[in-house]
Amino acid sequence: MKITVVGAGAVGATCADNIARKELADELVLLDIKEGIAEGKTLDMYQTASLLGFDTTLIGSTNDYTKTANSDVVVITSGLPRKPGMTREELIGVNAGIVKSVVENILQYSKNPIIVIISNPMDTMTYLTKSIAGLDKHRIIGMGGTLDSARFKCYLAKAMDVSINDISGTVIGGHGDTTMIPLKRLATYNGVPVSQFLDAETLDQVVADTMVGGATLTGLLGTSAWYAPGAAGAALVEAIVRDEKKIMACCVPLDGEYNQKDICLGVPVILGKNGWEKIIDYKLTEEEQATFNKSADAVRNMNAVLETLSL
Ligand code: LAC
Repeated sequence: MKITVVGAGAVGATCADNIARKELADELVLLDIKEGIAEGKTLDMYQTASLLGFDTTLIGSTNDYTKTANSDVVVITSGLPRKPGMTREELIGVNAGIVKSVVENILQYSKNPIIVIISNPMDTMTYLTKSIAGLDKHRIIGMGGTLDSARFKCYLAKAMDVSINDISGTVIGGHGDTTMIPLKRLATYNGVPVSQFLDAETLDQVVADTMVGGATLTGLLGTSAWYAPGAAGAALVEAIVRDEKKIMACCVPLDGEYNQKDICLGVPVILGKNGWEKIIDYKLTEEEQATFNKSADAVRNMNAVLETLSL
């Protein structure tokens, strides 16, 4: 199994570190455009191998895509991160060009990879990748809902003061502060609806905190978060390479599912060795579907911006 992570910034390096620790790859390539960064980070990581007990071949590369040849899975994290006060959507102008060239370079050396997109605005970058890659749609996966669901579980566990591992929760829709939809009706504490433990106001606060989960961290850190985004990317990769058939919320091309088409948006999917293998229908209420449609409208408007860029 060969895995490439493009972008050795904080998110890419954290994702690669998790992939290495979990021994998901025989060979893991980390590539960055900045001279020496990927080589330095992979060497640093390999110096943890005897301490942490993993044995993965780690290869750092300064923009040499021949090193990525025949990758089974490629994670794309390239692009600018958010600064405090910025929305993910404001990054489209710069990041669309970067993501397009990364996808083209990757496909020159890997014929049929599964591509996981983390770069923002993630839903639009996934849509762009889908449009240019010419791969089977099941091989294009945007990482948004997995991270947002992890944040939803974090805020639920904090509000309830219980083990986060007893919490189940899913966030669908776009990966934007106003487009994501934490499904509070379906969140459970060991199978029991969380509404039995939290009053409506607290639950609404959990939902609001989840939606600005990334922005809160950008405010605290001065740049985008990396531990959870990197771990979420690695969790997706793990579900794929271990053929786990786990349900995760991912941004995938919709073709009528959830009443949407010609868009990539977050929905629950089963992940396995072929990428996202199946979309699970959570049977939204009318109100949830209306919110999902609004989210789709916002993401569609963002996708339309791609046409105005000279890519
Ligand atoms: C975040 C970025 C990765 O939500 O979108 O932290």
